[in-house]
Amino acid sequence: MQRSEISKQEAKILFRDNTYKIMSKKEKNIDQLEKKIKTELDNFTRELETVKNLIELDKIRTKYIGKKSFLIKTLKNIGDLPDDIKPIAGKKSNTARNKIESDILKKEKIFKNIEYKNKLRKESIDLSLPGRSTGTGRKNIISQVVEEIEEIFIGMGFEIAEGPEVETDYYNFEALNTPRDHPARSLHDTFFISENILLRTHTSPVQIRYMESHKPPLLIIVPGKVYRRDYDVSHTPMFTQIEGLVIDKGINFGNLKWTLETFAHEIFGKDRKVRFRPHYFPFTEPSAEVDVSCNICGGKGCRVCSGSGWLEILGAGMVDPNLYSFVGYNPEEVSGFAFGMGIERICMLRYGIDDLRLFFENDLRFINQF
Ligand code: DAH
Repeated sequence: MQRSEISKQEAKILFRDNTYKIMSKKEKNIDQLEKKIKTELDNFTRELETVKNLIELDKIRTKYIGKKSFLIKTLKNIGDLPDDIKPIAGKKSNTARNKIESDILKKEKIFKNIEYKNKLRKESIDLSLPGRSTGTGRKNIISQVVEEIEEIFIGMGFEIAEGPEVETDYYNFEALNTPRDHPARSLHDTFFISENILLRTHTSPVQIRYMESHKPPLLIIVPGKVYRRDYDVSHTPMFTQIEGLVIDKGINFGNLKWTLETFAHEIFGKDRKVRFRPHYFPFTEPSAEVDVSCNICGGKGCRVCSGSGWLEILGAGMVDPNLYSFVGYNPEEVSGFAFGMGIERICMLRYGIDDLRLFFENDLRFINQF
């Protein structure tokens, strides 16, 4: 029944009727509530249209279904309403709240989707592109072989010694039995810094320096850089040598042979033959050059070994007793042997490299092979 249709008279009558009184109050309350809910929904729908992002959407959520919103407050205080209104008020408020909630969720889904797609676009990775790797460094082949040779000699009881690269004429030549007028000097194209100072042409001067400061017995190897004025396929102005020196009572050529044969077999393989060829060095007597059989032709003779079947790997000999007079040793009491080898040459023979200069050009295509 519409209230406007009720005449004053009827109202009076009906008013006495408790039911109508209550009915009318109920109707009034529900009517008010419905209107308010409708306004809320209309406002919400209008505002939702203008929302542009998730932040704005959150504001609307707080406004319409947040703790302080009309709908939530109504639902919270529903217990205070008259019993017969409670269920209807509860139902209407709940329906409105659910609609708002689901509308917001729908919008939220749309915004999240847009946001996700934007993020994907920004972070997109082209999997078809080849990766960029940061190359890992490693030791140069010369250092690798020096360390390998050191290990071999350390295994035989040798110690490692070092000496200066800027050397005096005395240690580089004089005390090694090579006085100024000695023809062997011309074999070393020396870089002189002054009349008596030079870049060492070999690691042999460390023999003298070490003997000066140590008493026998001694077993040392001396790795280091040496310098000569030379530049072609088999010479560079700087290269690497390892020197060896053994001094004790009763050291003989047999000890020298065993030591160097053992070394050659370790570094080149047990199948290689080793030979000692008479030679001349100012600081050893007798002297020898040591060869290994050619691995290319197996000793038959080929271009690599110049038809000889042998490849020279180092120089050696019994320490010339005359050297002991420079270091205060008694040649009647001690004897010894020495040897010296070029590391680049050892590498060339081992890996079949035909140009010494490759070691110093730093071409990664070459270096990375080792
Ligand atoms: N020092 C020599 C050179 O550079 C190599 C050498 C030969 C060293 C015989 C030695 C040796 O100790 O006994 O050619």
